[in-house]
Amino acid sequence: MDREAQRRQSQLDFVASGQDILVGSETLLPLPLSELSQTNKDSDYVIETFAGGLTAHVYRIRVNGQDWNLKLKREQSLVKNVDGQTSFLNEVQRRRDFQSLKDKPTTAEAFSHVVPTAYASFQEGVMLSPWLEGEVLDEFNESVLTQIFDTVVNFELNGFIEWDLCPGNIIYDGEQISLFDFGYCYTFNPLTEFNSNGQSAPLFHSVERLETRNFFGYLLKKEQEWSHKEILTLFELEKRLALQAYEYKYSALHKAGAEQSVLSWVDQYIKRWRKALSTPAGLEDLFLVESFRSHLLDVHDDLSGQSCTPMTLKRVDRLEEVLSDHFGALKALDGLFFGDENLTQSELLTRTKKQKKEAVRFQLA
Ligand SMILES: Nc1ncnc2c1ncn2[C@@H]1O[C@H](COP(=O)(O)OP(=O)(O)O)[C@@H](O)[C@H]1O
Ligand SMILES: [Mg+2]
Repeated sequence: MDREAQRRQSQLDFVASGQDILVGSETLLPLPLSELSQTNKDSDYVIETFAGGLTAHVYRIRVNGQDWNLKLKREQSLVKNVDGQTSFLNEVQRRRDFQSLKDKPTTAEAFSHVVPTAYASFQEGVMLSPWLEGEVLDEFNESVLTQIFDTVVNFELNGFIEWDLCPGNIIYDGEQISLFDFGYCYTFNPLTEFNSNGQSAPLFHSVERLETRNFFGYLLKKEQEWSHKEILTLFELEKRLALQAYEYKYSALHKAGAEQSVLSWVDQYIKRWRKALSTPAGLEDLFLVESFRSHLLDVHDDLSGQSCTPMTLKRVDRLEEVLSDHFGALKALDGLFFGDENLTQSELLTRTKKQKKEAVRFQLA
């Protein structure tokens, strides 16, 4: 069984065992647990309902002038695969891990951008956190990127990888960013593994996750108002900060005695980014390769979940453009992966046309 299959099985076993996971204390709840767990959009203390939640009902509640975020498990997750079905369990597991790291003086700082968990119970299907002021992140600057990279690299060094750094999962109050949705945050051994897939999927790591789920989508939207030079300036900043974060990751892993295979894997990103940052042409090349990778992975994701948006279409259009106009460069730069390196330009374009049709068909209403 591969690493992912093992995790899935152990989570299914846990569900079947009927055991609970508890975080925090019931005595500190703002309302009795029996009342909280029955909350619906008409409860008089609910001031906002988030309709989008696929695995949980998400509410903003106000009790005695204080605001909280309440997540209640759906009886049946609307995401039809095992990871979707167990994402509430997964999140309670991570809330437990993160809260205990937040409570420890030696790790409190590293996890300061993780929302506190006031109370969580898997069996009750309840998670309660203080309400975070701010908005879903829609601006990338040096401070934001530094906070995100510091946080996710610390996750990795402590054996966690957050797969879903999408825009809706980062809140920004103008100063601080916060993470709070851990339905797809998995554990791994950072000294011997690249991510929660062991060493079998070296393409995936936390900087790539931010780029794929979030940053390159943001840049694609910004093309409406920004020049290519402005886009590249922000990309350069992002890459410079990512490089710093991975230099730190490398030295921390080295100190901790990580396996050579892991160190070489990190070092290969460091070397590639450092080289790209040293010349304008290198930066352009890296932008071509990494934006293509990000759009392709995100399109794969949307199509496999049959959940497409206008953004999926924009991304497919970009894939088509890049394959038409820059296929040679992409190939020369080793920018094709997952077997695509063995396909011809016209085969890839035919597939992209098919993806486009599917992306139209799978538009969420
Ligand atoms: N503690 C919080 N403070 C403020 N807003 C929150 C908090 N937790 C969640 N939200 C808001 O609720 C939305 C959905 O919550 P999230 O935990 O991402 O659930 P889902 O599993 O549905 O994606 C988020 O995009 C965010 O806008
Ligand atoms: Mg979310």
